[in-house]
Amino acid sequence: MAKTPTPHNGANYGDIAKTVIMSGDPLRAKMIAETYLTDAKQYNSVRGMLGYTGTFDGRQFSVQGHGMGIPSIGIYSYELFHFYDCDTIIRLGTCGGLDPNVKIGTVILAETACTDSNYGYQYNLPEGYVPSATPELLEAAAASAQKLGIPVMRGKVFSSDVFYNDAEKQAQWCSDGVIGVEMEAAGLYINAFEAGKKALTILTVSDNIATGEALSAIDRQLSLKNMIQIAFGMI
Ligand code: HPA
Repeated sequence: MAKTPTPHNGANYGDIAKTVIMSGDPLRAKMIAETYLTDAKQYNSVRGMLGYTGTFDGRQFSVQGHGMGIPSIGIYSYELFHFYDCDTIIRLGTCGGLDPNVKIGTVILAETACTDSNYGYQYNLPEGYVPSATPELLEAAAASAQKLGIPVMRGKVFSSDVFYNDAEKQAQWCSDGVIGVEMEAAGLYINAFEAGKKALTILTVSDNIATGEALSAIDRQLSLKNMIQIAFGMI
């Protein structure tokens, strides 16, 4: 409590809800807060990493950006779990599809991840090991998607430290049934595991690395809406 505000987050203790929906892009967090929350109040603008608290269905929720990559989500999620006593983080992001059969626009529930990051080293986790998403969140998201009639894939994703990565190196990580590549799920799952908190990553496939396809601007908005609706349907 005494640690708030932090160097990265201007919120005071109590300004942030127990459940936080996060997205890499702070402007997407703003859009989600303004579209889905009632009476959304901005609690952070440090480094432009916008965060808001408001109500949905009569309960308090927060929406915040987390930036790109494991070090960035590592900082923000650590502070939310440890300094703001948040219980649950649901990350909404995009990923590259790795299998030609993973169509762009598909929503993926990231059951677990593998990573080339060494982030887990500090918690004595074996190299590349990543804890799973919280099972009850996974089931809640699957049930929400089913109720909304939105098809989802469940599986393992590769949380890479590198966006412009070498194709052969990436393939080494992705031979074992990995369906998508992104850059944050592993950091979030490791932090949730260490803190004894809950986490889930929901992703929209924005491009397919095998086929070279990418979502158009219009399809991107529609697909992101599906993912956001699944998240609000599960909380
Ligand atoms: N790599 C990493 N992160 C991503 C990608 C990708 O190809 N697409 C969307 N997020």
